[in-house]
Amino acid sequence: MSPSLADVTRGRILFGGDYNPEQWPEETWHEDVRLMKEAGVNSVTLGVFSWSRLEPEPGAREFGWLDRLMDLLHEHGVGVVLATPTASPPPWMGRLHPDTLPRDADGRVEWWGGRQHFSHSSATYRRYAAAITEDLAARYAGHPALTMWHINNEYCTFDHGDEAAAAFRRWLREKYGTLDALNSAWGTDFWSQGYDTWDGILPPRRPHYMKNPGQVLDFRRFTSDMLLECCTAERDIVRRHTPHLPVTTNFMPLWTGQDGWRWAREEDVVSVDLYPDPRDPLGAQRGALVQDLTRSQARGPWMLMEQAAGPVNWRGVNHPKPRGLNRLWSFQAVARGADAVCYFQWRQSRQGAEKFHSGMVSHAGPEGRTFQEVKRLGADLARVADQVSGTRITADVAILHDWHSWWAGDHEGRLSTRVDYPEVLTAWHRALWEAHLTADFAHPEDDLSGYRLVVVPQLYLLTDSALANLLAYTREGGTLVCGFLTGVVDEDDRVRPGGMDARLRELFGIRTLHEWWPLDAGETVACEGFRGTLWSEEIEPAPGAAETVPYRGGELDGLPAVLRRDRAWYLSTLPEPDALRSLLAGIAAGAGVRPVLDGLPHGVEAVRRGDLLFLLNHGREPVTVPVPGTHRELLDGTDVTDTVTLGRYGVAVLRS
Ligand code: GLA
Repeated sequence: MSPSLADVTRGRILFGGDYNPEQWPEETWHEDVRLMKEAGVNSVTLGVFSWSRLEPEPGAREFGWLDRLMDLLHEHGVGVVLATPTASPPPWMGRLHPDTLPRDADGRVEWWGGRQHFSHSSATYRRYAAAITEDLAARYAGHPALTMWHINNEYCTFDHGDEAAAAFRRWLREKYGTLDALNSAWGTDFWSQGYDTWDGILPPRRPHYMKNPGQVLDFRRFTSDMLLECCTAERDIVRRHTPHLPVTTNFMPLWTGQDGWRWAREEDVVSVDLYPDPRDPLGAQRGALVQDLTRSQARGPWMLMEQAAGPVNWRGVNHPKPRGLNRLWSFQAVARGADAVCYFQWRQSRQGAEKFHSGMVSHAGPEGRTFQEVKRLGADLARVADQVSGTRITADVAILHDWHSWWAGDHEGRLSTRVDYPEVLTAWHRALWEAHLTADFAHPEDDLSGYRLVVVPQLYLLTDSALANLLAYTREGGTLVCGFLTGVVDEDDRVRPGGMDARLRELFGIRTLHEWWPLDAGETVACEGFRGTLWSEEIEPAPGAAETVPYRGGELDGLPAVLRRDRAWYLSTLPEPDALRSLLAGIAAGAGVRPVLDGLPHGVEAVRRGDLLFLLNHGREPVTVPVPGTHRELLDGTDVTDTVTLGRYGVAVLRS
């Protein structure tokens, strides 16, 4: 069996963060470990950005400082997630080897001086990355502090340079075999783009006018694959040295650049970085979405690799977390399956680009509110850890999501640039979240038979096997709800006849989809009982096939906004939030799906994990939550009967 997060947690919740001690004198390291102990920190990630320290000039190795740190952390009982430092090559690499630097679509070089300035296709970069990884793994394989490997950091670069172009051609040859097949898949007869030689193919560099969508889609697939090759090359090296230790790489939340389903299969531990905006009224829900997605990628417990104890510094305006919010959002992650609650970063930097980004120890020091709250959180997590760690969440609802469909639907030539896939996904997840219906995410080709309800906010691209999967799911009694722009194209981004796959039209009782009618900013469309936003459609239903909810007024008056045929529903618009919530709640009830708890006051989130019920108050006012029966509240260690009161941003963890 391959190693997993459970091998590291051993019944605990990991608590800690990125630790960048090379920014501090050694005296500070001693204060750090003392404070870590005080806060209950049991895990730190070392070395994420240490390459220029470890290899100050080509081929040199400076491990002494890291040896001392590993020993110090071990002496203080802090486990180390050791990172390969390959996300930020030292300046000498770009200077001596310009071929390691990526280029954007305009041909501009991404220079050193920031980070992530590496070309995934560069043989030179890969050689240096492999060499430092090899030496790091060999040196620390037997170190008792080492618990896990962290490969690179937030893989996210695109490269349009020459070496990437050659790699793109190789990737395409492998995929298509012949130029005829490529020309057909990309529809190159449009605008005279037919290729007569592989050498003529480029990454989608900036053309005079719109890019070929097939080329763009394949470039995104290629980029995800190339970054994954970099990642698995390093993973394989560390695995060779420590086959018993798990390996992870941290994802960005709902990030477009990687096929997150495919990547997750290559990791022992799935981890994510999560930074909802404390001022965003939907911050908690956006967090929940990423947590649900990460849990689904992990198919079990996952690791919150990074969050902020206070403000970030990369939004226009960066707000701190009000008192209690850090604890609340940390418990939300645990409720939704995290077995690790970690931060970027341990100690706030005094220099560098992120010196105004918070740390667990802020500029205010150990007396500051941030560290005091971190300490309290560490103690609270320790109180529930043995009852939470390793337990699972069961969901009756699946939300289908696919990166390839996102990429294809994102093309500049689409009918409305207002249709933003992540926002559509968020709107649907929000409706379920507000209805207290716990949902997993799933790939459209996954086995869906364990779910009573499957929702498809928008899968513009559906492969033949995904279509067959959805049809089989409904045939076998599942309830399916699809949003607009679903099933429009095949896997080459070729529009399916009729603008929606014929089998799907049949499923929903649609005879003809005459036109798509996107809506302008601020425009809504009246439907019977609610208003639609973003999109509408001119649909002619198949006579007698479906029950419908019509549009009212305007061009589409009387035509169906919502169609339902047996257990298959189609929404040709995005209902306003309240309407989408009650629609999905009603459909879920019909499918036998119950909310986590009835009678929850506004702003309270409830999640069941294993035998525990987590209650989270996202409001600043105290609330009383009905919880029939007697339960043990694990944070206070008291018994509660029939109701529990949650203070401002309060949390309760109940065992019945
Ligand atoms: C990411 C990175 C960190 C840091 C934080 C700041 O998550 O992985 O190195 O830059 O963002 O929010």
